[in-house]
Amino acid sequence: MCGIVGYAGGKEAAPVLLKGLEKLEYRGYDSAGIAVLNDGKIEIAKAAGKLQVLRDLTHEGQTVAGLVGIGHTRWATHGEPSDVNSHPHISKSGRFAVVHNGIIENYQQLKAMLQKKGFTFLSQTDTEVIAHLVEFFYQGDMLDTMIRLTNELEGSYALGIISADEDGKFYAMRKDSPLVVGLGEGENLVASDVPSLLAHTQEVYYLNDREVVVLSADKVEIFDTNRERLEVTATHIDWDVTAAEKGGYEHFMFKEIMEQPQSLQKTISPRLQDGRIVLDDFHITADMLRNVSKIYIVACGSSYHVGVVGKYILEQSTRIPVEVDIASEFRYRDPIIDERTLMIVISQSGETADTIAAMREGKKQGARVLAIVNVLGSTIAREADDVLYTWAGPEIAVATTKAYSTQLIVVDLLALKFAELLGRMDEAELAEYYRALQALPQQLEQTLADKEKIQYWASQLYNKHSIFFIGRNLDYAVALEGSLKLKEISYIHSEAYAGGELKHGTISLIEDGTLVFTLATYQPLVEKIRSNAEEVRARGAYLVSVAVEGDEQMQEVSDVVFTVPRTLPLLQPSLTVIPLQLFAYYVASQKGCSIDQPKNLAKSVTVE
Ligand code: M6R
Repeated sequence: MCGIVGYAGGKEAAPVLLKGLEKLEYRGYDSAGIAVLNDGKIEIAKAAGKLQVLRDLTHEGQTVAGLVGIGHTRWATHGEPSDVNSHPHISKSGRFAVVHNGIIENYQQLKAMLQKKGFTFLSQTDTEVIAHLVEFFYQGDMLDTMIRLTNELEGSYALGIISADEDGKFYAMRKDSPLVVGLGEGENLVASDVPSLLAHTQEVYYLNDREVVVLSADKVEIFDTNRERLEVTATHIDWDVTAAEKGGYEHFMFKEIMEQPQSLQKTISPRLQDGRIVLDDFHITADMLRNVSKIYIVACGSSYHVGVVGKYILEQSTRIPVEVDIASEFRYRDPIIDERTLMIVISQSGETADTIAAMREGKKQGARVLAIVNVLGSTIAREADDVLYTWAGPEIAVATTKAYSTQLIVVDLLALKFAELLGRMDEAELAEYYRALQALPQQLEQTLADKEKIQYWASQLYNKHSIFFIGRNLDYAVALEGSLKLKEISYIHSEAYAGGELKHGTISLIEDGTLVFTLATYQPLVEKIRSNAEEVRARGAYLVSVAVEGDEQMQEVSDVVFTVPRTLPLLQPSLTVIPLQLFAYYVASQKGCSIDQPKNLAKSVTVE
């Protein structure tokens, strides 16, 4: 979704803004623009298309002079992607420029009011009302104007605003849309995400809803809506600039796939201490857990798929009923929640609008909310009662891989901890799991080493128009993810089915040469899925299977087999998913698709 960068410092703002926007490209966008303040004048450059269009238009920012500016990448919501709909938007007099991420829900009422007052609109966006509204409210005090905006705007917003009357500074604020302040030396910034700040500083402040920040080269001031000045407490970000760079890889997605052994290690190591699982600051006792009558897992997309794994393993290890819900459904389905409900929300970004709304609903109704999140200081991380970070580092490719894998691990750790607390696993069983967890990064390394084989088969099979993924139990949960991975980056139609369900309708689509991926790694049901594989093969399917090493029988029924090392059943998804990630990647690469930024998709879905 949209990305915002703002800069005030000793450098020319335009090139800094372009660099910052480049780091937000991963979020998905269709146009870009900058506004720079220079000697009481605002200059704007914006254009539909990729950032390169804006780079060319401004000669890499050289033609737009000034030391303070705001920049934006737009993912169209109101109005098509076009030059005029691109941000920044300018007020009637040209004295205020605005960039915005989010949706202003009452923009039509505001627009009608402003039109009556003589303001005319050039674009179809909701954002343009903000530019005119600023001008309408402004009576010589920008802080007042910003506070007034918080009273008038309904919906979600992260805003960057410059005023021609206030040289050397810019303003920003947020509500339900991410915005981080970068605290530099002789320069200060805001951005939608940390990677845009890393070239300047690793000290950040996570802005809270309705806080107004005023930034100049040497000062950052934050105010609440009563004009009270707030303390600026810095958080140190433990990433360096290279963490968010490709480092010689052709795509971020491939880099992130290959980083998974290290990411898993970082997620596991601090939580296995002296043969015990320690879940950071999440303190839950056996009594508290015994009082939990139901667990809801709520998330979107791949995080939801981790939730499906979670349902299977948490129910198995706790015998507490677990429901897993898509956040956009959960929030409107009037779920039955009370103080005995434990709600687990899973989100890489911590900023997914539907997941945030579902979490707030759960909290309102009395649930205790545990969040599994990757991005430090994100909205979900801050609002949940407890947080377990996944420590995957910055994930830039839209298609998640390492964040998914680390989420899986956190869910595993949770299930094991709960089993330990409830006495549902004995010491020996738990010790076996700890050993298996410790071995997992190395096994993942081993699985990745098979990538050439998967690349070869991707080159043979990339021209299929429709692909099915089947599996049972945990393999079904992984099938959902394998299918989504393929769809989102290769644009091949694909569906995931529980192995036993196919014959209730979908098997009618199987014909000669239909590609079916059979996941046969969940040992307790391997015989069952083998029968399902036979059923589709008998109808002409071309069968690619994922099986554990040494499974001779799967070799016999399949055309191609990708093997993964064997681990304990609850942990197996961490290995089973790897060939599917690689297959999706190589197919997309073979087809020449835009792998890191697939069409129509955004990394962080901050609108409903
Ligand atoms: O940041 P979140 O984990 O809340 O994002 C949820 C989904 O938007 C995300 O997992 C999406 O499905 C990915 N693009 C899948 O690769």
